[in-house]
Amino acid sequence: MAGALVPFFSLPVFSVLFFSVQVYRINLKCARAQKGHERVYSFLEAASTPDVTEWPQDGFPVIRTSLPGPKSQVLLARQNERESNARTYPRRLPIGIAQACGSYLLDVDGNVFIDFLNGAGALPLGHAHPRLLAAAHRQLDSLTHGLDFPTPAKTMFTDELFGMLPDSLRGQMKVQFCGPTGSDGVEAALKLCKTATGRSDVVSFTGGFHGSSHSTMAVTGLRSPKETLPNLMPGVQFFPYAYCYRCPLGLTPSRCEINCAMQLEIILDDANGGVRLPAAVILEVVQGEGGGIPARAEFVREVRRITRERAIPLIIDEIQSGCGRTGQFFAFEHYAIDPDVIVLSKGLGGLGLPISVVLYRKELDTWQPGAHTGTFRGNQLAFAAGAEMLRIMRSQDVCGQAGASGARALARLRQETLGLPCVGDVRGLGLMIAIEIISPTSGRGDPLLAAAVQSDAFQHGLIFELGGRDDCVIRLLPALTVEAQVLDAALDILIASISRQAARLAA
Ligand SMILES: Cc1ncc(COP(=O)(O)O)c(C=O)c1O
Repeated sequence: MAGALVPFFSLPVFSVLFFSVQVYRINLKCARAQKGHERVYSFLEAASTPDVTEWPQDGFPVIRTSLPGPKSQVLLARQNERESNARTYPRRLPIGIAQACGSYLLDVDGNVFIDFLNGAGALPLGHAHPRLLAAAHRQLDSLTHGLDFPTPAKTMFTDELFGMLPDSLRGQMKVQFCGPTGSDGVEAALKLCKTATGRSDVVSFTGGFHGSSHSTMAVTGLRSPKETLPNLMPGVQFFPYAYCYRCPLGLTPSRCEINCAMQLEIILDDANGGVRLPAAVILEVVQGEGGGIPARAEFVREVRRITRERAIPLIIDEIQSGCGRTGQFFAFEHYAIDPDVIVLSKGLGGLGLPISVVLYRKELDTWQPGAHTGTFRGNQLAFAAGAEMLRIMRSQDVCGQAGASGARALARLRQETLGLPCVGDVRGLGLMIAIEIISPTSGRGDPLLAAAVQSDAFQHGLIFELGGRDDCVIRLLPALTVEAQVLDAALDILIASISRQAARLAA
């Protein structure tokens, strides 16, 4: 019998059978994978249009599922498997986003949140402003990508942008369009100042945040990401920032004579101070990621005087504080100073479309053609939406609205939370608002408590991010046009969350 089978299973027959089985198995696998993909895609399609027909009318969020909802859980799990460990926001704000409108975010499970994270401050008029969408749609049909060629969309955007400069700087500045991130704008600003001065070093301030690339991280105060990254850009010196709630020099306001700025002057002038005359001083007049800290006015003016007297270009990083966030188009306008270099990004594309620019005094324009290139310097959709946003900002006094809403929110937050033992400081300028959460016993920043408040508020439908030293600062960045009832609803939720956590702590 065995002998009879031998010819049947001769080598050629066996090979054909073997390969047929393999092909069948592969086809089966592909069919299954295809079905799997189809299932995932139809799930994703359904998730991107959850069953919500209208946005809230009363200002309050609508939470319909436990959080994260079941569909969000699926997306988060897939993200966890496939995306980099460096991802950040969804770790503490675990949702999959389906749609957004104004100050609201809709997750894939149909929950509606109030969004005070606001694309990390990239949406001055909120999500999906109809006039900005229309401008982007119009542009989409004609031209989307333009490198650094002049185009009608770019020219109109540049006109609007120069029109936002204060009178004292009008006609004095040039603009460099950068790669689409804020970090690339800061990179360009540093290169520009090094080229123009022929110097190599840069002065920055404690707590400052300027980006995630090698040079911008070098001028950023945050130490933890640097600890695993040797050889960042050398030649950076840090000086104390006017963070008056926790004075870096240990002084109280009554004993302060702007010693932090004085220290900069003394060291720069000290032949034995160890610091060379820098190519630039870079400063956020209101620190964002550093904890929503508006610098004391005298400090900023002193830094301007010190830099001007020594011909050191002063770069003001307005990536977060600009575009009306603080109640003026540029935050430095509150301080009545004129910078030499301004970096803007985030909100400038209106709809969160990527754009980044450096505005600088004409006399600094000493670099050569090609000194700062980049494929994505000409996003025409961002120019079209950005120009329309700037027109709206001007015609509807959006900065004024932001200033008034911010002052109202700050007053209420101060009145209703400053007495709580876990609230150390409530501060801000315009709609860049911060609440520092502290341990009532040690008075130090309390990151766990801040995270508990964030999570509690999230469960009740309010989204915001933490920042500052040890992430113990609640940071609110609403749309500048946030409606009064949405702002009130958000503050109700936040104040209740802080109070609940304070009560839990006391129990
Ligand atoms: C003040 C400031 N500078 C620079 C950056 C970096 O911008 P980007 O994240 O677009 O690179 C940020 C980002 O948050 C910022 O707040």
